Amino acid sequence: MPLRLPSSPFHASSADGGSSKRFRQHINPLASQFQVPKVTDLRKLVQPYADPKLPFHVDVGCAKGTFLLEMAARHPERNFLGLEIRPLVAEFALERKAKRPHLTNLHFVACNANVDIDQVVLAILEAESRVAAVSILFPDPHFKKQHKKRRVVTPELVSSLAAGIRAREGGPVGDETVYLASDIQDVLDEMREVFAADANFRDDEEEGSYLEKNPYPVATEREGSVLDQDLPVWRSLFRLKGAEEMGGGGGATTSIEDLRAAAELKQKMRESEQGRFLKEKGAGGGGGVDGVIIEEGANKYVLVSARDPASQNMQIFVRSSAAAAYHREVAEPLVAELIEGGRVNVKVLGGGRINVDTAEKKVVVYGFSYAFGKADHRKAAAMIRRAEGFEDFDVTWNDEGY
Ligand SMILES: C[S@@+](CC[C@H](N)C(=O)[O-])C[C@H]1O[C@@H](n2cnc3c(N)ncnc32)[C@H](O)[C@@H]1O
Repeated sequence: MPLRLPSSPFHASSADGGSSKRFRQHINPLASQFQVPKVTDLRKLVQPYADPKLPFHVDVGCAKGTFLLEMAARHPERNFLGLEIRPLVAEFALERKAKRPHLTNLHFVACNANVDIDQVVLAILEAESRVAAVSILFPDPHFKKQHKKRRVVTPELVSSLAAGIRAREGGPVGDETVYLASDIQDVLDEMREVFAADANFRDDEEEGSYLEKNPYPVATEREGSVLDQDLPVWRSLFRLKGAEEMGGGGGATTSIEDLRAAAELKQKMRESEQGRFLKEKGAGGGGGVDGVIIEEGANKYVLVSARDPASQNMQIFVRSSAAAAYHREVAEPLVAELIEGGRVNVKVLGGGRINVDTAEKKVVVYGFSYAFGKADHRKAAAMIRRAEGFEDFDVTWNDEGY
């Protein structure tokens, strides 16, 4: 059971109306106006910091900034960045910060974390800094089953965070953490499942047990009100796995350049999701794109899905390439082909490696991708088994390696 008592010495309601000022409660993050990237000028994002090279703590869904205002005051050795999707709320957080000009290690940005996380991380890396800590605290629960897609913690967000931490020149430092909390057990459990499913992170607690205390000396606004009502808070802490724990895969096989190109590719796919390319090109059906093209040897592969707007069918594609250094390079030509062909909802579902041994008539699907997360290897293997030319191959998959 989590602690019921306030575990944090500070939970703020401050003189500038932090906790009393009212805003519209919930928005739909999937609405088209929230799919537009807001972080377009990377240098602008780090300009407010006196020393942009200090390690960053990124708080996703910071609301009015109460938590970060206090954290920034207490930890001048760190930079703090709050991401908030509701523009008026982010503006209010900025106003509160402006009243504290001594806080030169804090900034708030109005953006959808799910859309802008790659740009945010890139801005930090390009400033020669790093993401040392992430917190996602009391995110909107979106209870209804059909609204669960609106939850902020997605496999894409998690793999972007991991790739961003690892892309630092010289690799991660080893102290990187992600702190998650919610007053709704199901919401915390679901966030936890998504982080645990990503090969990059390790849960500090065993399954079924929870972190007892807030690792920080400050409570968020929401946490304050939950604790005041003597209600439980569910918490967990994840750490980035080290190179050894990753089975040799923890070395930097990603870079700032790769991250930048992957972010561009993801934006293209997001646009295809909105059906924009369909309108622009006036394309329909989108002819015969091969389901499976894989090359001899152990190569990076991606699993991609796309919808044919004519039939409304969702299709899956498997590609591996011997020439690709990054998964993004495998995905790019396929994504372009699908979009050009008029497909919509083009999505890279994940990646890994495929070892094709034609002499032995064997295929093994395994590993993961830094930029896109781990693909569902079972699905890829099933596709390969059905593909022309592979009917008599022994196709297996596992979740090992990278
Ligand atoms: C319930 S509030 C919790 C705020 C704060 N973390 C706390 O504990 O007091 C969740 C916040 O996340 C914001 N939010 C929801 N989805 C978001 C997204 N995709 N990107 C950025 N912020 C988001 C909401 O607007 C809201 O301010």
